[in-house]
Amino acid sequence: MSFRKFVYTFALLIVGASSAQAHWTYSRLIVNGEVVGEPYQYIRRNTNSNSPLTNVNSTDMRCNTGGLSGTDTQTYTVQAGDEVGFGIDEHFGHPGVQQVYISKAPGAAADYDGSGDWARIYALTTAVRNSSSGSDDGEGLVWATDNIQSFRFTLPPSTPPGEYLLRSEGLALHAAHKFSEAQFYVACAQLNVTGSGVGEIGPVAKIPGLYSGYEPGVLIPVFWSFLTNYTSPGPTLWPEGTQEQHLVQEL
Ligand SMILES: *[C@@H]1O[C@H](CO)[C@@H](O)[C@H](O)[C@H]1NC(C)=O
Ligand SMILES: *[C@@H]1O[C@H](CO)[C@@H](O)[C@H](O)[C@H]1NC(C)=O
Ligand SMILES: *[C@@H]1O[C@H](CO)[C@@H](O)[C@H](O)[C@H]1NC(C)=O
Ligand SMILES: *[C@@H]1O[C@H](CO)[C@@H](O)[C@H](O)[C@H]1NC(C)=O
Repeated sequence: MSFRKFVYTFALLIVGASSAQAHWTYSRLIVNGEVVGEPYQYIRRNTNSNSPLTNVNSTDMRCNTGGLSGTDTQTYTVQAGDEVGFGIDEHFGHPGVQQVYISKAPGAAADYDGSGDWARIYALTTAVRNSSSGSDDGEGLVWATDNIQSFRFTLPPSTPPGEYLLRSEGLALHAAHKFSEAQFYVACAQLNVTGSGVGEIGPVAKIPGLYSGYEPGVLIPVFWSFLTNYTSPGPTLWPEGTQEQHLVQEL
């Protein structure tokens, strides 16, 4: 390791260890380029402040602690093919990836506990390194999530009409070289999807069950700053052919 990389890594360790300021929440739903409603109007409010989850086998992994019921949360109507996204308080403060999953409610989204099938529809992972993308010495990965305060993407046009949970999952990797120390930041928005989508959503997984904690994207083989490649965890992205993103679209 070069001296420069050592200093960089050491500085990040101090920042990471010294405060919960690097933690975050998802409080705002974004639709077609605008924040809609008040914070938590359409996103289930969690009861664990901005603390991360580390136990992939907990039902908290669905919609965060306190998020199993949505009866205090409203449901926002969108069209399949609309652009959706989340606002982040205060920012994505650790190296890691941003993913989004979707699950169709059997009835009203507000009454749904997230025990059904989840498909992965968005993954924002590593950034493409270029001459202006970092202060280190050109080894290792850089992350497209670095300090982002929002992100947005297209809700698949083939999403069948119905009520859904849209689950935002931030996965912080700064401690993920140790088993069960990857940090998950999770929140669910409630969506009523209209349109004429007829897609078959899948592959899917249940939560818990989505991750074991041992997959290479959750338990990384080396300290994060030494990673030279990264495989995001979860089922193949839906719809088939959806690619991982390497450049964020912020608000
Ligand atoms: C280069 O990296 C910077 C910082 O990450 C980013 O803002 C910019 O869009 C990148 N440029 C290209 C051409 O990818
Ligand atoms: C989660 O459950 C799986 C399957 O039972 C087990 O292999 C794994 O060790 C558990 N992970 C954690 C973090 O407890
Ligand atoms: C969902 O959208 C449909 C079509 O616009 C509408 O009839 C229905 O009332 C909406 N449901 C909710 C919960 O907003
Ligand atoms: C990915 O990185 C790990 C360690 O960071 C290394 O052991 C492995 O060979 C790499 N795989 C590929 C395909 O480059």
